[in-house]
Amino acid sequence: MTVPQRLLLGPGPSPVSERVMRALSSPVLSHLDPYLLEVLDSLRARLASTFRAAPDALTLAISGTGTSGMEAAVANLAEPGTKATVVVTGYFGDRLAQILERHGAEVERIEVEWGRACDPARVEDALRRRPADLVGIVQAETSTGVLNPVDDIAGIAQRHGSIVIVDAVTSLGAMPVNVSTWGTAVCYSCSQKGLGAPSGLAPITFSAAALTRRVFCRSFYLDIGLLEDYWLRRKYHHTISAPLILALHEALAIVEEEGLDARHTRHEQNHNALVEGLSTLGLTLLPPEKERLWTLNAVRVPDGVNEAGVRRHLLDKYGIEIGAGLGPLAGRIWRVGLMGAGSTRANVDLFLSALGTAVTASRGGPSVRH
Ligand SMILES: Cc1ncc(COP(=O)(O)O)c(C=O)c1O
Repeated sequence: MTVPQRLLLGPGPSPVSERVMRALSSPVLSHLDPYLLEVLDSLRARLASTFRAAPDALTLAISGTGTSGMEAAVANLAEPGTKATVVVTGYFGDRLAQILERHGAEVERIEVEWGRACDPARVEDALRRRPADLVGIVQAETSTGVLNPVDDIAGIAQRHGSIVIVDAVTSLGAMPVNVSTWGTAVCYSCSQKGLGAPSGLAPITFSAAALTRRVFCRSFYLDIGLLEDYWLRRKYHHTISAPLILALHEALAIVEEEGLDARHTRHEQNHNALVEGLSTLGLTLLPPEKERLWTLNAVRVPDGVNEAGVRRHLLDKYGIEIGAGLGPLAGRIWRVGLMGAGSTRANVDLFLSALGTAVTASRGGPSVRH
């Protein structure tokens, strides 16, 4: 098989560096190999510092993609009758609400127009009207390119005595995530975006206070107590993938070497360069300036341009992958990711020139397949 080379500039996965790919091709080890167990300890420490978690938090990685982190947070904190308030600013907020409902929680949704961030006053209002055990919020809403004000919303949840579940799937390693300031919090992410490893692991951190609010977990696989027994006490639970662990461990070494603050700045600067370049092409972003992610750019498709045709052109002619809009934004936006190793000035410049050609072709040039 000849697997095509792609430049991954979509909503995820992001490009994986050669260094991480080398770690991925290390010899396979068993899940209880003494060397791997040492790596697990080091991985927990690296993840905790990436989350900026408190020393008494429990931080590890679930075997599975970002959604398994979501399920793990819910499965350990919600049971039938749990009252949950979920901020829904797009597709992934809705997914979090759905998962809570599947676990029997009584969910109240705070629905926000797609493309806008949640006003924290709405959370305050909702909790005053109906106290909740849990507040769920997606920090970086990948379907709309919106950054939600998690610091403020977590503060409100804390004052009302609610646990906060934060989805940092499209922010960890690329935008500030300060779990230790969020009170009784659980936060999960994924390996394949800001951290720069392949998909397959979901970093998660439970604050010490959140651990005291655990319910009986109906999922054996996602039970944080059983996972803690494996990660800390070396008791067999499941056959974790050593190659994925080694790849994530290496990706986190790269994060550490670059430094989190420098990494955030790099993502911010490349996002700004992209926005500036888009504006010279006459293109605009969906969210207002102050509500934008640096990782995921929701670009409005101009009138008269074939949305899918442009994506196909980018893939066929340049090997560049970008994402389509989801739900009500299907056909209306492109989702352009600049995450992890993919957030470089060179990628911004290459993408802008390829997009300019694709849009021109779509407006009447011969080279776009519709
Ligand atoms: C904000 C957010 N949450 C959850 C997920 C689910 O992650 P995964 O596709 O890795 O299961 C995604 C995926 O893109 C996401 O963007």
